[in-house]
Amino acid sequence: METNTGVFDVLYSARSMRRLHPDPVPEEILVKLVDAGIRGPSAANAQNWHFVIVQDRKVIRRMAEPWRKGIGFFVDNAFRAPAKPGEDFDQRRRTLRSVMHLADHFEELPAAICVCVERDRYAEQLARRPSVAFSAIRHFGLLGTFKMGLRAKRRREQELWATAYTATENVLLAARALGLGAVMTVPMVLAPPGTYERILGLPRNVLLAAVIPVGFPLGKFGAVSRPSVESVISWDRHGGRRS
Ligand SMILES: Cc1cc2nc3c(=O)[nH]c(=O)nc-3n(C[C@H](O)[C@H](O)[C@H](O)COP(=O)(O)O)c2cc1C
Repeated sequence: METNTGVFDVLYSARSMRRLHPDPVPEEILVKLVDAGIRGPSAANAQNWHFVIVQDRKVIRRMAEPWRKGIGFFVDNAFRAPAKPGEDFDQRRRTLRSVMHLADHFEELPAAICVCVERDRYAEQLARRPSVAFSAIRHFGLLGTFKMGLRAKRRREQELWATAYTATENVLLAARALGLGAVMTVPMVLAPPGTYERILGLPRNVLLAAVIPVGFPLGKFGAVSRPSVESVISWDRHGGRRS
């Protein structure tokens, strides 16, 4: 089997980097990261990504305030939460320290790539046409169609986020390949709804999925620490083992 060791080296060492140098990252490199992002798949091949690359100091400063509040709230609770069975508490402490470092130095960030996905209103309207319902009944029966209808909104949302997050991972891996530090973050979950969307001027049909701070790393790239692969695999059904 042909193996691209370069890809595997990147995958196994793409740690979250939150300690970033304030030196600017050239614009063409930031564009290259986004270009790698959109090499990823998209649900129904909608290719409905949008990326806001933030370099403007004013915008970064506006993001810094809610960011610090959100991290203050998160860190308070994350430090207090009891250790899970088998959890390495020192590891948690190290992660929290790097999370706090990023929050404390947010104003110095050279750039952040905000990964967004656009709702496709036209496709949503098409999905509501009666002919789609008739076709569903033909394939899945009345009860199946009814149950699918109940979940339809959630399924569409899942597709949107999935499109954004596959692109996000590509951006992270491309950053690692180019020797840049980056980290996937979702600051929106630690702020009142609309906070970052307003700062970034997003229209209502554009959803913010992730913010990726990017810069030259202050820390070292090292192996990502994960459980053994065997511990996360079942065979043929959940819990199934290889005899
Ligand atoms: C859905 C998701 C949300 C995350 N949100 C944040 C975040 O808001 N802030 C942050 O610093 N890291 C965030 N991370 C990064 C994780 O903290 C990180 O992957 C984890 O601690 C493991 O560290 P490693 O990537 O260096 O192996 C997020 C990761 C994922 C997958």
